[in-house]
Amino acid sequence: MDPKEILKKAQDEKYAIGSFNFSTAEILKAIVAAAKETNSPAIVSTSQKEADFVGIREAAALVEAWRQATKLPLILNLDHGKDQEEIRKAIAAGYNAIHFDGSSFDYKENVRQTNKVVKYIREVEKTFDCSILVEGELGYLRGSSAINDHVLEIKPEDLTSPEQALDFVEKTGIDSLAVVIGNAHGIFTKSEEKLDLERLSQIKEAVGDRVFLVLHGGSGIPENDVRKAIESGIVKVNVNTELRIAYKESIEKELKDKPKETTPYKILSPALDAVKKVVKEKMEVLGCGGKSIN
Ligand code: G3H
Ligand code: ZN
Repeated sequence: MDPKEILKKAQDEKYAIGSFNFSTAEILKAIVAAAKETNSPAIVSTSQKEADFVGIREAAALVEAWRQATKLPLILNLDHGKDQEEIRKAIAAGYNAIHFDGSSFDYKENVRQTNKVVKYIREVEKTFDCSILVEGELGYLRGSSAINDHVLEIKPEDLTSPEQALDFVEKTGIDSLAVVIGNAHGIFTKSEEKLDLERLSQIKEAVGDRVFLVLHGGSGIPENDVRKAIESGIVKVNVNTELRIAYKESIEKELKDKPKETTPYKILSPALDAVKKVVKEKMEVLGCGGKSIN
C-alpha cells in the first residue's frame, strides 16, 4: 500500500482522507472501526507526545495488526514532528508518513530543515524500496488540541502566502503541504473558525496538483467550510480535539453513572463508541467512505 497513491486518488476524485490522532489502543481501535464500517482509507497519527505515551514501536505494531486484520489502507503518520531524531525513530518503527513542522522557524530555515528531512526520507525510500509521505508546513498555525473560549487572533502574516507556497514546494520537495488559512488547533466555544477559502484557491492555483494540500485543526470548523475546502483542493484533514472530547466526556459519564464499576473494558467501551461516532461523521464530510482501495 503506497500512501502517495492513496492521497493521489483522493486528489483526483476530490475527496479527503482524515488524519485522526490516537494515544491509546482503544482510540486507535475506534478509528479503525469507523474506517471499517465506512470502508474508508484512514491516516492514524501520533504527535511526538502521543507516540511517547503509547510507545512508538507499539503504535506501529498495533497499526500493522489492524492492517492485517481489516485489510484497510491505514497510513501511520508522525504528526507535527519537530526534530530529526524523532523522525528517524518513527521511520525505524515503521511509520509511512511524516509531518515535519518547521513553522516555528523563519522561512529560510523552514525550507532548509524541511528539505533536510525530505532528503533523508528519499534515501530511506531508495534503500528499503518503500514509500513514505513527507508533509511540510508553511504559515503559523495557532493553538493546541484543547477546548478554548475564543478563536485565537490569527494575524495576516500567520497565513500561508500563495507565492511562497510554490517556492516552498519546489525548494523542499515535499509531497504534502499543511496550510494556514484561518484554521487553528482546538475547538472554540464562543466563536467560530472561519476559513479564507479565497486564499486556499490562490494557493491551489499556485501549486496545482504537484502537492497534497492539508488542513490541520479540523475540529470545530463548520462542515460546509470543510466541504468547500475539499472542493478547492484539500486532500487531508487532521482531527484530534473532537475525538479527545468524545473520549473524555464518555468516561466522565460512565464513572458518574456507575461509580462502582471497576472493569476497564466496561468503562471504556462507550468511549470507543463515542470516538467511532465522531470519526464516522467526519468521514462522511470528507467523502472518503467506500474509497478503500484494498
Ligand atoms: O495535527 C493535528 C490536528 O491539526 C488536530 O487539530 O485538534 O483542532 O482537530 P484539532
Ligand atoms: Zn495539526
